[in-house]
Amino acid sequence: MSSSSLIATAMPSNELNVVTGAFLFTGKYITSRLVAQGKRVINLTGHPHREHPFADKVASSPFNFDNPGKLVENIRGATTLYNTYWVRFPYGQVTFEQAVNNTKILLKAAKEAGVKKIVHISVSGASLDSPLPYFRGKALVEKAIMDSGFAYTIVRPTMTFGAEDILTNNIAWFLRKFPFFAIPTGNYQIQPVFVGDVADIVVLASQEIHNMIVDAAGPETYTFGEMVSLIAKKIGSRTMIVPVPSEIALLLIKFLGLLVGDIVLTRDEMEGLVANLLVSSDPPRGTTHFSQWLDQNSKNLGTHYSSELERHYRTVAKH
Ligand SMILES: NC(=O)c1ccc[n+]([C@@H]2O[C@H](COP(=O)([O-])OP(=O)(O)OC[C@H]3O[C@@H](n4cnc5c(N)ncnc54)[C@H](OP(=O)(O)O)[C@@H]3O)[C@@H](O)[C@H]2O)c1
Repeated sequence: MSSSSLIATAMPSNELNVVTGAFLFTGKYITSRLVAQGKRVINLTGHPHREHPFADKVASSPFNFDNPGKLVENIRGATTLYNTYWVRFPYGQVTFEQAVNNTKILLKAAKEAGVKKIVHISVSGASLDSPLPYFRGKALVEKAIMDSGFAYTIVRPTMTFGAEDILTNNIAWFLRKFPFFAIPTGNYQIQPVFVGDVADIVVLASQEIHNMIVDAAGPETYTFGEMVSLIAKKIGSRTMIVPVPSEIALLLIKFLGLLVGDIVLTRDEMEGLVANLLVSSDPPRGTTHFSQWLDQNSKNLGTHYSSELERHYRTVAKH
């Protein structure tokens, strides 16, 4: 995607857009840009009563995956669906297969409701051939979108960082609390991208008239060890970073999960990282430097543990 092929500034418009997860992480930054353009936004979510900064500019509706008729009714009249919906890992009744099927329900409802375009947030390294269920599931959703007949834009972020992000925050939290931090051995890399840049890339790419798939990656690439060391340095942690075989790292991560009552990192996420899936071969589209962002945010980073289970499972979901 060359920026010259894109319409750089959107015309003000009060068209209706749908954003899944408009009050949470990536979806909140996308929504803020749509609202700034004068668009009306409907949030589809499992947590319609979550606090948010949009006052009465954004209305919320439950996902209603089990009531597609209601879902159609709730999004009728929307032109574009920005989809961030996905699950990080299977848990309880929640599975990747269910997340793929729910997305197919959403696509079918969007078609019936008259939506014209799907703007979908995928992940770098999504592949139908992937042995990792997370990355294969994301590719199955991409395929469903490409086969759906909708106009589409698919954006594939690497690892997204920002004030509300769980992974970077929790690396810092562990670095603040423990004398050792184990990382899997190897020279695999990571190319973090700022959540605000992801939203800019998404909104800009969504204006392209052709269907497209683009990566969203930041301007700095680190080995994972370098990234953890950088976070340690910026928050003033003297924790020793110790490379260990992957299986040992996974055991330690599971143990830490028991300690904090959360799933800290999954096998899929760790193997995806070690397989270099969180870097892009494209020129970076993100402009925010992770190192500079750390300078500005190190004071608060990792002062509290952020729990994925708390965020998605333990807070009351109203469907
Ligand atoms: N964060 C990253 O580093 C990263 C990197 C690459 C790609 N991505 C992709 O970017 C998209 C947005 O990621 P994000 O981190 O910003 O996600 P998020 O805000 O945590 O969640 C996005 C949406 O998915 C729903 N969701 C998440 N977990 C769920 C669960 N267990 N059960 C039911 N619904 C669930 C949320 O529902 P509620 O509205 O009810 O909370 C929300 O609507 C995802 O598709 C993700 O795969 C993220």
